[in-house]
Amino acid sequence: MQNESFRSPVQSPIRDTRVQTVIERLEAERRRPRGGGPRINPAESRNPYDYAEYGFSIHPEQGNLIYLLCRGMRAVRVVEFATSVGMSTLYFAAAMRDNGGKVIGSELVPEKIAAAKSNLTEARLADYVEIREGDARQTLRELGGPVDFVLIDGWPNDEASSLARQVIEIVAPQIRTGGYVMNDNAEPDFLEYIRDPVNGFISMTLPIKNGTELSLKVG
Ligand SMILES: C[S@@+](CC[C@H](N)C(=O)[O-])C[C@H]1O[C@@H](n2cnc3c(N)ncnc32)[C@H](O)[C@@H]1O
Repeated sequence: MQNESFRSPVQSPIRDTRVQTVIERLEAERRRPRGGGPRINPAESRNPYDYAEYGFSIHPEQGNLIYLLCRGMRAVRVVEFATSVGMSTLYFAAAMRDNGGKVIGSELVPEKIAAAKSNLTEARLADYVEIREGDARQTLRELGGPVDFVLIDGWPNDEASSLARQVIEIVAPQIRTGGYVMNDNAEPDFLEYIRDPVNGFISMTLPIKNGTELSLKVG
């Protein structure tokens, strides 16, 4: 009984009903490619452009935690790899509107950027977001100042190191002490990096989705 009331519906700390309405619509529209998608099914294409109409978005528990932590730490510069159709962006942008800050998003696929902008406009949050179009390994090199929170919600690739690992190595030096990193997909080489004390983070795995890594920069 207790478990049921915890799971359904997910209670959100975001009180703005316009934001909630867009999040609920995106949740209702959530779907997967027939084969499961490139992360689940290695036989499927890994080309991001083949999935323009699929969000692969974070879950509400993750988004609510992002919003809550960003509010609590008074975050003003937050970054996401990647934006897709803007689900994670909505949670970040709601916090940035409430804190007086901005979201720097990144996305390769133009159709997804258009969808994200439309969703943010509908939620009246577009003014708090800059989406950088292109490869995040280039677009996130210069973030303009100390970063409070980074979401690493990447994409499978065929290279020796995951995109999550490549992007955290670019972004980590720009995160302030006391800043957070959330990772959705538990890429082994990302976890290796974030859990190695030499890189300046302390980290734990939260029992959200299939294991969400939350890390705090301490040095
Ligand atoms: C898991 S989805 C992100 C979901 C998003 N955070 C949300 O909650 O809606 C990963 C996204 O990474 C994008 N992507 C893949 N490779 C990329 C790259 N090199 N640079 C930027 N974006 C990339 C894909 O197009 C895809 O939309």
